[in-house]
Amino acid sequence: MANIRQNVVVFTGSGVSAESGISTFRDKNGLWEKYDAMKLASVDGFRDDPEAVLDFYNERRWQLFDAKPNHAHYALADLEKHHDVTIITQNVDDLHERAGSSKVIHLHGELTKVTSSLNREDDSCIKYYPLNLPIYIGHKADDGSQLRPYIVWFGEYLRYMDEARLAVENADIFIVIGTSLVVYPAAGLVGYAQPEVPKFLVDPSDMEGHLPIGFKHIKAKATEGVDILMNEISIL
Ligand code: OAD
Repeated sequence: MANIRQNVVVFTGSGVSAESGISTFRDKNGLWEKYDAMKLASVDGFRDDPEAVLDFYNERRWQLFDAKPNHAHYALADLEKHHDVTIITQNVDDLHERAGSSKVIHLHGELTKVTSSLNREDDSCIKYYPLNLPIYIGHKADDGSQLRPYIVWFGEYLRYMDEARLAVENADIFIVIGTSLVVYPAAGLVGYAQPEVPKFLVDPSDMEGHLPIGFKHIKAKATEGVDILMNEISIL
């Protein structure tokens, strides 16, 4: 491992958690192949059928309750021994944190938390809520509105996008793992890394048409790809 501590920024998507049993979205059998994203992950969907939306996220929360971090999450947490690591994740699971990563920016929210359906980003309404307890219709947030999962739905503002963009701009090494890079604005982060910094992308797919310029593609699942990645980083 190189002696100098580098600023390593890792941008992850659902693929990093796939081997922990968490569903991806757009793969065969992915969530958005089975369910209608606009009905279950949008403000309009929640207004039209809140029970269906809560059921969907209660199921996701149950799935996460039983899940465990995999080797990829642990390897990224371990990288903090050698480098300053910032994880920017589109994932709403807490597997990076459970593996020990200390700096995790959640762009799309967190399943471990709930908030108000009127004031989603009001800090006084955002609370941890046990994953194994369902959120029901009638559960109220502190402002009296219906409780909802602390998730960014389609069309909603990404509170941590500027912080994430700044982290990517300042990266000495930039890594992307397990994302199809089709959901914006998050996917646009790949364009903010400085041209000269080493960039790696770990994903088992061909990334046809989606491989950003300047990235070395490690075509492997996250748990195998991270070992190749750690070797690559160690010789920089
Ligand atoms: P996608 O389902 O769009 O993409 C998953 C990516 O993970 C694909 O590129 C797969 O090839 C890859 N993959 C699958 N198995 C893998 C493995 N074992 N190891 C590594 N990679 C693997 O999921 P995301 O890109 O995360 O947003 O989706 C982005 C956003 O779309 C999500 O955050 C979610 C969704 O709508 C919200 O819910 C707001």
